[in-house]
Amino acid sequence: MRKSIAAANWKMNGDLGLIKTFAEAKLGNPKVQTIWGLPAILLPAAKAAGFADLAAEDVSAYEKGAYTGEISAAMLKEAGCTYCIIGHSERRTMHGEDEQILQEKWKQLKAQGIIPVYCLGESEQEYENAQTQAAIERQLLPILEAGLIDEQTVLAYEPVWAIGTGKAATAEYAQAVHAQIRKIIFEKCGNIAEKVRILYGGSVKPDNAAELIANPDIDGFLVGGASLQADAFGKIIEAMA
Ligand code: PGA
Repeated sequence: MRKSIAAANWKMNGDLGLIKTFAEAKLGNPKVQTIWGLPAILLPAAKAAGFADLAAEDVSAYEKGAYTGEISAAMLKEAGCTYCIIGHSERRTMHGEDEQILQEKWKQLKAQGIIPVYCLGESEQEYENAQTQAAIERQLLPILEAGLIDEQTVLAYEPVWAIGTGKAATAEYAQAVHAQIRKIIFEKCGNIAEKVRILYGGSVKPDNAAELIANPDIDGFLVGGASLQADAFGKIIEAMA
């Protein structure tokens, strides 16, 4: 049985005031694991406020040294991170991150015992050209072939056309892609596939969460916009429980 995950992705939003708001809201349900993906600079305040599982939104591909502005996996570990989002489509497109660099980031996280939340998903153009399968394979196979995935790994399937658009994938479409992802993992890595949790992301809201989570291969959500509102995020968690 895979425990559901509600993962917030605040992106470059939020401040100490919002940490306080969420701390006071005391969100959570014992049936759902809540992971807080926050700007790195807010992590210590979130830890002090008692947030459970903390995630960074990115990590350096290097261990340490002259990389101005970067944050290492060891630093994230020290700040209390147990998870780290990598490969978000915004980083892939705006920062040119590809599978090669993401493998390096993954290795850095693994060395510190931080669990990756690895994002993947097709672009709008790929979606329109029925190339979802090829996009998934392009982003997933190098990771599997490098032997990086393990039972604790979390994947987040996020069709790029659904992120921040209010146009979520249908539950049927998302379930079909999640099942496909699990099949690819099974073919390459066997039974690990049954343990890996695959989250859906892209315009998850209180009103579509229940329908999406009802599917056997959808193990939770990576939530952007709605994770900035305690009320909405709380409703999503409750819809999953
Ligand atoms: P959204 O973002 O929920 O605002 O669509 C999801 C994400 O980018 O992780």
